[in-house]
Amino acid sequence: MKYEIKKEQVHDTTVDVVKKMLESSDKLNLKDYDATYKNFRWEDYYDEIKWFERGKTLNMAVNAVDKHIGTPVENKIAVIWESKDGNVEKYTYKQLYELSNRFANVLAKLGINKGDRVFLFLPRIPEVHITFIGILKTGAIAGTLFSAFGYDALKDRLGHCDARVVITTPDLLERVEHIAEDLPALEYMIVVDREGKFEDKEVKGKKELNYSSLMSDVPAEYNPMMMNVDDPAYILYTSGSTGKPKGVVHVHGGALIQHLTGKWVLNFNSDDMYWCTADHGWVTGVVYVILSPLSNGMTTLFYEGRFDSEKWYSLIEKYKVNIFYTAPTAIRMLMKYGDELPKKYDLSSLKHIYSVGEPLNPEPIRWGYEVFGRYFHDTWWQTETGAQMIVNFPCMDIKIGSMGKPFPGIIAGIVDDDGNELPPYQEGNLALKRGWPSMVKEFWNNPKKYESVFKNGWYITGDMAYKDNDGYYWFMGRSDDLIMTAGERVGPFEVESALIDHDAVNEAAVIGKPDPERGQIIKAFVVLNKGYENTPELLDDIKRFVKQHLAGHAYPREIEIVDSLPKTRSGKIMRRVLRAKELGLPIGDLSTMVK
Ligand code: WTA
Repeated sequence: MKYEIKKEQVHDTTVDVVKKMLESSDKLNLKDYDATYKNFRWEDYYDEIKWFERGKTLNMAVNAVDKHIGTPVENKIAVIWESKDGNVEKYTYKQLYELSNRFANVLAKLGINKGDRVFLFLPRIPEVHITFIGILKTGAIAGTLFSAFGYDALKDRLGHCDARVVITTPDLLERVEHIAEDLPALEYMIVVDREGKFEDKEVKGKKELNYSSLMSDVPAEYNPMMMNVDDPAYILYTSGSTGKPKGVVHVHGGALIQHLTGKWVLNFNSDDMYWCTADHGWVTGVVYVILSPLSNGMTTLFYEGRFDSEKWYSLIEKYKVNIFYTAPTAIRMLMKYGDELPKKYDLSSLKHIYSVGEPLNPEPIRWGYEVFGRYFHDTWWQTETGAQMIVNFPCMDIKIGSMGKPFPGIIAGIVDDDGNELPPYQEGNLALKRGWPSMVKEFWNNPKKYESVFKNGWYITGDMAYKDNDGYYWFMGRSDDLIMTAGERVGPFEVESALIDHDAVNEAAVIGKPDPERGQIIKAFVVLNKGYENTPELLDDIKRFVKQHLAGHAYPREIEIVDSLPKTRSGKIMRRVLRAKELGLPIGDLSTMVK
């Protein structure tokens, strides 16, 4: 593909527009966005995925894996796993089919039924794909947990939806054991010990069972459960701006848009090598590391280790990655290591590169072009939307800095607080017309909260944006206190709750503070209890405490000790006042604040 950069006036600024000139070698799955969008009806695309009864019943796992059995794809590699230490394991579709069948049989044997909650608390190891697919086959609801979660984060999530089973490793097991007594519904911990040494035992009334022994004891055939389009498939707890995390429930019918976004946005072609760096603890990992690439019969690289610039470049070179999907924070971290490092590697295999999770500024896009010879295509979506919603398609010109345009079948709009649509260039709530196939079906046990996110037939995303005259969307920020740090979503309330559990902390308020690398970092304002002194040791201890109790990624990197917090007369902490002070911005209306 060749590019030409043109300047264009958008609103009151001049932006670069990347005009694409397609060549015959560019295999684009979606060639004409406008025509496809205009005529799009979901039912015209039903045959793209596998149903039991067309448009009515299916199983997401059958669509992802079983449908390939008996086709040439069955012997293709579905997942190439590279461990932190450089060990490599490859799993064909056939192997994934048999192993996930076995795991479904394991769950059936333990008495797990349709609708039960079964969670993965695993690092990035091949058992993630195997067990996740296996759970879906039984009709149980699969949940994932980020491996950095500490005691309280785990307790809140597993406890809230009465999880019956947790699949984990010997390393992570202690954290589940620690809170096991507070989880009455939890019956089994299935322990994946890749060294095969773990012995079954009972701890605090919960059975801890060795995964390998269970797997060797069951057949490799399984009859997957037939599910309705709106039957739950998986649940992800995600932070909101208020209260504890919500259990976002997604349905089997989401398979259709998972498949189509992979095909049209990420441009999956069967001979391409794909790598998405997201963790399966978050929605991008569930949908674009596991489900969408499998549905499209792709080979996916699954790397166990964390961010490491040299390692990442070497993986792209070694596996000849063609399609790369990552996050702005990761791109900025790569940038930090400079332009010389990538020159040491052959990165010419890359054909399409994408970003998600935070605003993608022009600078990393331009840098990406210098280093990879490609432009990062931004994609916007949320845990609640279940798939990419507003994107830059490979066939479309990109206006640098814009999130792109809505996926076919998705009606987006900018609306005021009453749900009335606003004209181009006016900033408002980014909203989506209710009712696409992967829209959150419910927040677990919280119908009131669920209804509150809809207004006038629109799903209100919580993001602020505007639309330009050509229908491109431009991200402005959040309308609430939600924090995105290094692309990971953190609710201030969760961090504040963890902080006040520390003996020294009397009150706490938490904000997202802009950070050049991580987008935002978490900053806490803390009022100490009497008898405690503001010392570096105490601050370190508070940080350690939050890491252990909440999560490794959700602790405040900055803590400021204050005498009091700004509050409304009804006692609510006014985080916006703290944010404005921190950033030196106008503080706004203080009429409700206690003086
Ligand atoms: C933010 C991640 C700007 C946004 C898939 C959204 C973005 C939240 C973008 C959802 C983007 C995601 N540009 N902001 N391209 N993509 N966001 O649920 O605030 O972890 O509401 O889903 O991330 O985060 P979540």
